[in-house]
Amino acid sequence: MSRESVSRESMSRRSMIVAGVMSGTSADGINVALVRIDASNGGASDMASPAQAGSGKASRSKEEKRPRSAITLLGHAEYRYPSKVRQAVLSAMNSPHARVAELARLNFLLGELYADAVLAIQPRFRVKAELIGCHGQTLYHQGDAQAFLGCKIATTWQTGEGALIAARLGVPVVSDFRPADMAAGGKGAPLVPFLDYMWFRDAQVGRIVQNIGGIANLTAIPAGARTSDVLAFDTGPGNMVIDAVVDTLYSKPFDRGGKIAATGTVIEPIIQRILRRQFFRATPPKTAGREEFGREFVQEFLRACGRARKPDIVATATALTARSIADAIQAHVLRTSTSRTRGKNWRPSVRSAFQEIILSGGGARNATLVAMLAELLAPLGIVVRFSDEFGLPSDAKEAVAFAVLAYETWHQRASSVPSATGAKRAAILGKISYA
Ligand SMILES: Nc1ncnc2c1ncn2[C@@H]1O[C@H](COP(=O)(O)OP(=O)(O)O)[C@@H](O)[C@H]1O
Ligand SMILES: [Mg+2]
Repeated sequence: MSRESVSRESMSRRSMIVAGVMSGTSADGINVALVRIDASNGGASDMASPAQAGSGKASRSKEEKRPRSAITLLGHAEYRYPSKVRQAVLSAMNSPHARVAELARLNFLLGELYADAVLAIQPRFRVKAELIGCHGQTLYHQGDAQAFLGCKIATTWQTGEGALIAARLGVPVVSDFRPADMAAGGKGAPLVPFLDYMWFRDAQVGRIVQNIGGIANLTAIPAGARTSDVLAFDTGPGNMVIDAVVDTLYSKPFDRGGKIAATGTVIEPIIQRILRRQFFRATPPKTAGREEFGREFVQEFLRACGRARKPDIVATATALTARSIADAIQAHVLRTSTSRTRGKNWRPSVRSAFQEIILSGGGARNATLVAMLAELLAPLGIVVRFSDEFGLPSDAKEAVAFAVLAYETWHQRASSVPSATGAKRAAILGKISYA
């Protein structure tokens, strides 16, 4: 028996401590979560792979047994990127002519920083991870195929060398999660719905799980949903436009607490014009990134705002996030349109019933944004709640997700949700670097 199969077998029999490492499109830093996943009940594996989730009674009762208690959050922390690293990451993302040598160096540098982050958190919580799931830093994501050198290519690129992390931590690392879903015909995102479904599904309450990171994305889980009923997609900008506007106008990294936006007045015609764009009208699945809402978009947005008061511009950027989320819910989640995404298990009567939106990500700390959302969603009978109320701290959620996805990959199980990414089948995500 090979060394790999011995260790894989012994690591499958019991509960496992897994570190999830996430750095999002805001490029603000590294979120690390340490979780214990219990193998009893199959642990996260009891989340039957979406590919297996049929409509039969047997698979339904199996899904209903999946315990979220199989996952215990042991600790989480955020480590900010040194400002020079953040600048390098942001300029690599936006650069029309990045240098290959710099990108190659950045890959190894980020690997070192991710290893540092795990090494820093472990003693704080007195645990040692046996496996690491590292999302890496997205430098480029293009979920739809586009013409390139005579071919049509969709692509994605997360950087941060897994082999380095494995070597420094002495445990296996799963990284580069997105390409396998794209190879299966999906958009490579979102991948968090696997955890959202596991954690937030409810027999009675329809929930929309809304993460507001750099980009905002939602997972809609109807009451009593099966995996194939889950709808997930990017709704548009999260904090990305707000951050860029506040940086330009106030030289601050973000609008803490939404205080600046609270003193401004929203410039309504600008919001309406932007919301007519193709991205917002497109039916899910759809993904967004800096390619859609990065530097170019912000320059255009600022030009459109002209000589408006600075707080009004920030308020307008904030309202754009709130409105695009609320509109997406109305247009793509609540409306029982003849959407392309309808699978054979589509149940309109269930999908139109959502009572809660559960917020996570840094945007959940922007009180003005949250108040705008609450006001827009109240008429739809949807109340705002926070991920923290459900035992999943807002800042830790995505890192927990990549720990759980790594655990699934280690056990050679598929964990993409095809109804979320548009893939033809569920895929085993990521690549493993051995220590
Ligand atoms: N206290 C706060 N008030 C307002 N906005 C905040 C606060 N804390 C974080 N944010 C926003 O959240 C962003 C980071 O969110 P995060 O969920 O880490 O996004 P990502 O996953 O893209 O890294 C920051 O750039 C900032 O815009
Ligand atoms: Mg972040």
